[in-house]
Amino acid sequence: MDNLADIAQAVATCTKCPLSEKRTHAVPGEGSPNSELLFIGEGPGQKEDEQGRPFVGSAGKFLEELLSTINLTRKDVFITNVVKCRPPGNRDPEPNEVDTCTELYLYKQIAIIKPKLIITLGRHSMYRFLPETFKISQVHGKPFRRKEQVYLPLYHPAAALYNGGMRQTLIDDFKRIPKVLEKV
Ligand code: URA
Ligand code: SF4
Repeated sequence: MDNLADIAQAVATCTKCPLSEKRTHAVPGEGSPNSELLFIGEGPGQKEDEQGRPFVGSAGKFLEELLSTINLTRKDVFITNVVKCRPPGNRDPEPNEVDTCTELYLYKQIAIIKPKLIITLGRHSMYRFLPETFKISQVHGKPFRRKEQVYLPLYHPAAALYNGGMRQTLIDDFKRIPKVLEKV
């Protein structure tokens, strides 16, 4: 599995964790393989499970709006999730499911894409890379360097969508991405 297409193919038929049992389509992720930015959400929701594509529901629309504020489209970046199959009823993914899926797929995607900046969306994605960061409300919008990789934790667009304060915070944090990228 040394290219993104091979990974996507393996994800499509993966049965390595219990999330395979109830999914319709696995969602490997998509976008530019050369992107400097890698966005990592939590897991597919209903629309994503139906279509096999990441962030195509209401949170995805909002993410596209946010990208447009920094003159990017979803084709310019790479977008994926810590788990590639929808947790039933949109429950939180279990730690063992996240462990299995990231070990098998996400870390390989990162190694291939080699993003300058990994942007985590929401708590689950943040804790995978920044386990010691404590509260997303305290660290959102602040870049962290771990080994050679820089991470920027942001609120999840689904959480921010209907929460006025969080929504504006996410919009403001997003506008800082180009500056953070410049400094990496
Ligand atoms: N929420 C996520 O975390 N990921 C998606 O792909 C869609 C909604
Ligand atoms: Fe495989 Fe990941 Fe889907 Fe689990 S969530 S079945 S590990 S692709």
